[in-house]
Amino acid sequence: METIEIGLLGLGVVGSGAVRTLEENREAIERKVGARVRIKRIAVRDTKKPRMVDVDPALLTDDVGAVLDDPGIRIVCELIGGVHPAREYVLRAIENGKSVVSANKELIAKDGHEPMHRASEQGVDFMFEGSVGGGIPIIQAMKSALAGNRITEVKGIVNGTTNYILSRMTEEGAELADVLRDAQASGYAEADPTNDVEGYDAQYKIAILSSIAFTSRVDTTKVYTEGITRVTAHDIEHAREMGYVIKLLAIGKSAGEDAIQVRVHPALVREGQPLASTLGPFNAILLRGHAVGDVLFYGQGAGMMPTGSAVVGDIMDVCRNILHGSTGRIACTCFQNKRLLPIETVVTRYYIRMYVSDRPGSIAAIAGVFGRHNVSIASVRANAPGSVDAHDTAEAIWVTHNVLEADIRSALAELQTIPEVRSVENWLRVEE
Ligand code: HSE
Repeated sequence: METIEIGLLGLGVVGSGAVRTLEENREAIERKVGARVRIKRIAVRDTKKPRMVDVDPALLTDDVGAVLDDPGIRIVCELIGGVHPAREYVLRAIENGKSVVSANKELIAKDGHEPMHRASEQGVDFMFEGSVGGGIPIIQAMKSALAGNRITEVKGIVNGTTNYILSRMTEEGAELADVLRDAQASGYAEADPTNDVEGYDAQYKIAILSSIAFTSRVDTTKVYTEGITRVTAHDIEHAREMGYVIKLLAIGKSAGEDAIQVRVHPALVREGQPLASTLGPFNAILLRGHAVGDVLFYGQGAGMMPTGSAVVGDIMDVCRNILHGSTGRIACTCFQNKRLLPIETVVTRYYIRMYVSDRPGSIAAIAGVFGRHNVSIASVRANAPGSVDAHDTAEAIWVTHNVLEADIRSALAELQTIPEVRSVENWLRVEE
């Protein structure tokens, strides 16, 4: 049996999961591939640091060149994350004729074009299943089993940290800051949670998914991104009373032949829907293809073993391609450059919570402003004055029919200026 040697860059959570998966299921993996799969070197910053897996210390090196420039290594797994120096390492590996497996969502979302094209020129593979949805095999599915479809929509919950936080806020009626503090203490959230909480992690992932789904480049700077910091326990409670839960959604939609909408924001989702039932750190991605219809992917979107599973799946695919002389078989599929529509062009329903003056005619005056801005109201609930401190103030919850986001924005801008509105407390999109 032939031996295929691989090199790792990084031995953190994902690298350790890949090593452990390879070790734990070695015999079956090698029989499925038809070759011995051996880790030859692992480049790490600090060779002395304690590791999550047992590896032969002789494999560890702090010289990336020992991986990138070793002619015996056919596959380089880039598992260090971030754009630099990962990008330079990936390009160097490809220039040296090696296939690359990466789980680096930021690099692929922001700058995946170049490594993919270099890989095509070199006739090697560049695979990145671990970059989105942890162990959920969504990328290979879109590139292979579902490749015949014209995909019109890909949306879901792709960030486990925020889903865990929102799930706990919903269960406990707690505020974000309290749940976040606790989640950090128990290791569910990073010490610096910005990337997750502000929606950037989900932005990278939906940019990758949309680029594959819609065969187009997606410029991450044009992806509308709103995190969960504006979601309060109070909004979650109002949503619940109306039969909704609040989720951080990542949404990509086709908008005609040459345009797409790609966005990340919290949204009200109807209870009982698959995305509403995705709890804790789990991810779920719903995809709509013209031939297949709706397909739902659900599973662990992060973590050592699920992401390690995705990386090992890619390694095995590359091994098979090497053995059959067919690396570079699946090239970059972004052969279009579709327009990313601005958020103002979205048409959806909205939930709006405001404090209003509790006097005759207030609701009518506010409804008049909505009407003048083409905002059609589906329901309004004005709570008893006792629900707020000031005796002449009531809380009003509005839910609209489908309206243009530009119209909601202009309506809200005017509403902030009329005396009947004390304050617009929050507004969120409703994803039906
Ligand atoms: N930070 C990510 C999440 C996991 O919370 O889902 C890594 O992609």
